[in-house]
Amino acid sequence: MDLSGKVALVTGGAVRVGRAIALGLAGAGVHLALHYHRSASAAQEVVVEARRMGIEAVALPADLAYMEQAQALARAAERHFGRVDIIIHSASPFIRASLLETTPDLWRQVMGVLVDGFFIIARELTPGMVRRGEGSLVVILDRGTVDPWPDFLAHSVGKSALWALARNLAVELAPHVRVNGIVPGPVLPPPDYSEEEQARVAQGTLLERWGCPQDVVDALLYLLRADYITGEVLFVDGGERWAHRRPRRNCQTGG
Ligand SMILES: NC(=O)c1ccc[n+]([C@@H]2O[C@H](COP(=O)([O-])OP(=O)(O)OC[C@H]3O[C@@H](n4cnc5c(N)ncnc54)[C@H](OP(=O)(O)O)[C@@H]3O)[C@@H](O)[C@H]2O)c1
Repeated sequence: MDLSGKVALVTGGAVRVGRAIALGLAGAGVHLALHYHRSASAAQEVVVEARRMGIEAVALPADLAYMEQAQALARAAERHFGRVDIIIHSASPFIRASLLETTPDLWRQVMGVLVDGFFIIARELTPGMVRRGEGSLVVILDRGTVDPWPDFLAHSVGKSALWALARNLAVELAPHVRVNGIVPGPVLPPPDYSEEEQARVAQGTLLERWGCPQDVVDALLYLLRADYITGEVLFVDGGERWAHRRPRRNCQTGG
């Protein structure tokens, strides 16, 4: 896919990793329907920055836990630009809660954003892509997609379900629309992470360090341009998923 002049809907695009994704797409010449939930002024800043880069951008609010808002978001993006070629689903509540801490409301909210929101947006926008013969969807996952993560039960199950949905769409929407996923590892610590926690997380990767949002952007731009890849998931995690397999003693360094 030649990205220049395409239109992307980026969910959760106002802050942190989503912001880096939005500006990375703008840097590649992609026009932006920039979704936000609570971060209205941050979204406006991204729009201003994108416009400075010569990109057409609009900020669109929605609480994706509500299907009707997800539908209105998709329709507003298509109305504004006349079409949407790319969907990046990055919006994601990140709430620590075990089984008994997960209230039915919390469960519904997390599943709503991660799964229902993407389902509705894809349902609204992919028929146009199929008609035009081109489209690309990328879901932003995390390690909960492949490993149980009971401290973040709804989040972990929601990400797994999101990847299941994406894989199904890759099959259903082929050959015109490609659907892929990215599993970032630790690329940007939550604001409340202590230095000790950050160091512990870094040691939990093979590369023994945090990545950065640009690592995710680079992977995303690769997937969007890689016309022979669909139904695939790309790990950008410093080897986090294999770190538990490290030998206790490093045989090569003797350390
Ligand atoms: N940070 C990391 O190291 C890391 C690691 C692995 C995976 N990831 C994944 O990368 C993505 C971005 O991560 P992040 O750390 O930048 O996320 P974050 O700081 O936790 O931001 C959460 C995002 O989700 C949006 N959101 C939350 N509730 C919503 C709702 N009800 N409706 C619509 N949008 C909602 C927020 O929008 P508003 O701010 O506008 O409310 C915000 O854009 C996520 O999918 C995350 O799982 C990140």
